[in-house]
Amino acid sequence: MQILDELYSGKAKTVYKTSDPDRLVLKFRDDTSAFDGQKIEKLARKGMVNNLTNAYIMRHLEQAGIPTHFEGLLSDTESVVKRLEMIPVECVVRNIASGSMCRRLGVQDGIDLMPPTFEFFLKNDALHDPMVNEYHIRSFGWATDDEVAVMKRLSFEVNDVLKQRFLESDILLVDFKLEFGRFGGELVLGDEFTADGCRLWDVNTREKLDKDRFRQGLGGVVEAYEAVAARLGIDLAPGQAGA
Ligand code: TMP
Ligand code: ASP
Repeated sequence: MQILDELYSGKAKTVYKTSDPDRLVLKFRDDTSAFDGQKIEKLARKGMVNNLTNAYIMRHLEQAGIPTHFEGLLSDTESVVKRLEMIPVECVVRNIASGSMCRRLGVQDGIDLMPPTFEFFLKNDALHDPMVNEYHIRSFGWATDDEVAVMKRLSFEVNDVLKQRFLESDILLVDFKLEFGRFGGELVLGDEFTADGCRLWDVNTREKLDKDRFRQGLGGVVEAYEAVAARLGIDLAPGQAGA
């Protein structure tokens, strides 16, 4: 399989076409963005840490029976994935209130949400990813009702699997964002699962181990991502591709 020209460059990843029309290469860059691209910095090693963390999580989800686009590592910063037809909504599951939910609803940061809650957002930086509901998704034809049901079911399954996995490493999975796409007749998990797109807190101290460190200027961003990887048992030594 040959890497061909760039298909699309996002805020933190670049996507390349390949000689296989059904496969893409994701390159995880060191760029880190917050506030819909208003704050951007390059953080050394982040691309590698996120590529290897994403590979670990996607494999873990596959083993738990959740279909994902992940096919394999190509290099320390690149992975091969299935080419999906992406659904333009983001699925957010929350176990603990934080971030936009607290601003929107005036609830206290850190309270447990029982049961966990679910929100859809439209993927649109220019509009600051507004929250949308299932009626918007239906009226604008972004996804069918069946697809909405599958995205919700798979998002909660991901939550069950990863909440447990992170807890085994003394990490609270506070919330996370997923994106899905169509492959063949099936909906599969796309994009990435890394500390860029979720909130992870130390179970004892509630220290933030995710992108909130960058958003809030707390420093130690990549160090926190590396700590998460280390706790999960991910080997970050260069040359993991093919491992
Ligand atoms: P929020 O609190 O800003 O709504 O975000 C909830 C979680 O989803 C948080 O872990 C960050 C993640 N997220 C993204 O990574 N990208 C996005 O565009 C959105 C809306 C959320
Ligand atoms: N939506 C992500 C965040 O909340 C990325 C971004 O804002 O650019 O930080």
